[in-house]
Amino acid sequence: MKRRTVALAVAVATLSASGASAADAKNEVVKFGSYELQLPLGLQADSAYVPEDNPLTAEKVALGKILFFDKRLSKDDTVSCASCHNPYHGFADPDRVSAGVGLLPGGRNSPTAINRLFSAEQFWDGRAKDLEEQSHGPLTNPVEMAMASHDDVVTEVGRLQGYEPLFEKAFGDDEVTMPRIAQAIASYERTVLAGNAPYDRYKAGDKGAMSAQQVKGLELFEGKANCVTCHVSFNFTDEMYHNLGVGWDAKTKKLADLGRYDVTQKDVNKGQFKTPTLRNVTETAPYMHDGSEATLRDVMVLYDRGGNANPNLDAKMKPLNLTDDEIDALVAFMYALTGPVTNAEPPAPSEMPK
Ligand code: HEC
Ligand code: HEC
Repeated sequence: MKRRTVALAVAVATLSASGASAADAKNEVVKFGSYELQLPLGLQADSAYVPEDNPLTAEKVALGKILFFDKRLSKDDTVSCASCHNPYHGFADPDRVSAGVGLLPGGRNSPTAINRLFSAEQFWDGRAKDLEEQSHGPLTNPVEMAMASHDDVVTEVGRLQGYEPLFEKAFGDDEVTMPRIAQAIASYERTVLAGNAPYDRYKAGDKGAMSAQQVKGLELFEGKANCVTCHVSFNFTDEMYHNLGVGWDAKTKKLADLGRYDVTQKDVNKGQFKTPTLRNVTETAPYMHDGSEATLRDVMVLYDRGGNANPNLDAKMKPLNLTDDEIDALVAFMYALTGPVTNAEPPAPSEMPK
């Protein structure tokens, strides 16, 4: 994986977690000067990715949060980032593919916007090199927020006088520019974090935090089912691209979406998509880049048969021969990965700039 070095982020593990059950557990902290971002239990500060030219500040995070929830950043004032990355649906969208302005459907399922702090490349195919670049896309995408141009976005935000003091605080003066909008939104997203799940408390020593069925699911995840080969480490992703055969049509022998290939033009990347985090995945149905799997059980059935056979199937995909009980245990384990999300509360209407 091409992860650039983390600038300025100093990892310190000092604050102990509240709650007597996991007494030894530590919440790690990402520090930028006087700004401290306390990570939920289980998340690791040394994996935080923040570009050198956009250090986190409280003021940028606050501005970015307002922008993320502001529908006036869309052509007809009906769609905000939060419309498809909905805090009440795990920062994803319950629809198979998201509808943007004019209810036009997009081509892919909305992935969660949580724990983006730990990823550089964004989108299912990784075509944006970071969150700053990513946030440009939806604003002018005709099936998302459908603004005519980024200049129009800047004009729209500049027209709302209530934004002036927020830009002033975040950037030193009240000039509204597209790079500033992108930096603020990215900063907010980096504070939207899910951890402190039953799994994290279990790992931290609270053996009662997971049920016996979930413990069995964890064993399968790391053993017989070999999920951990791709969904690795504390954010349950290798940040790499794999072909599971999702979207393969056995009749026409075609992939509906070439995924990573569209970015690299290399045959090996055909049908590959980024391994998503599994944190809070219980809240983000339906699943996969095309939303083709309705439930977590459906996802397990796909893995059990070794994915969908196609010329580019990942070598790690093999039939698993799981029993029904084992499939249930894997699903149960997914529930052990859901925890509270930080900075998720939408701004009150009175907080929105006039
Ligand atoms: C109409 C629905 C819609 C709107 C509005 C929308 N998104 Fe998305 N978002 C998506 C979809 C669909 C994808 C996946 C697209 C792809 O991978 O090609 C996505 C991908 C992302 C990702 C990548 C996540 C990952 O794991 O790679 C981030 C971050 C994100 N959006 C943030 C935003 C922000 C910030 C805004 C507002 C500026 C926004 N989105 C507006 C639907 C939407
Ligand atoms: C070869 C790598 C690989 C292996 C092995 C693997 N996954 Fe995945 N997983 C992925 C990729 C890549 C996707 C997205 C695929 C797509 O949309 O085409 C994904 C998607 C998922 C999703 C849907 C997430 C979402 O937000 O839509 C779940 C749930 C999941 N995997 C769980 C598991 C479990 C449980 C196992 C073990 C039985 C497993 N995975 C094994 C790479 C892998």
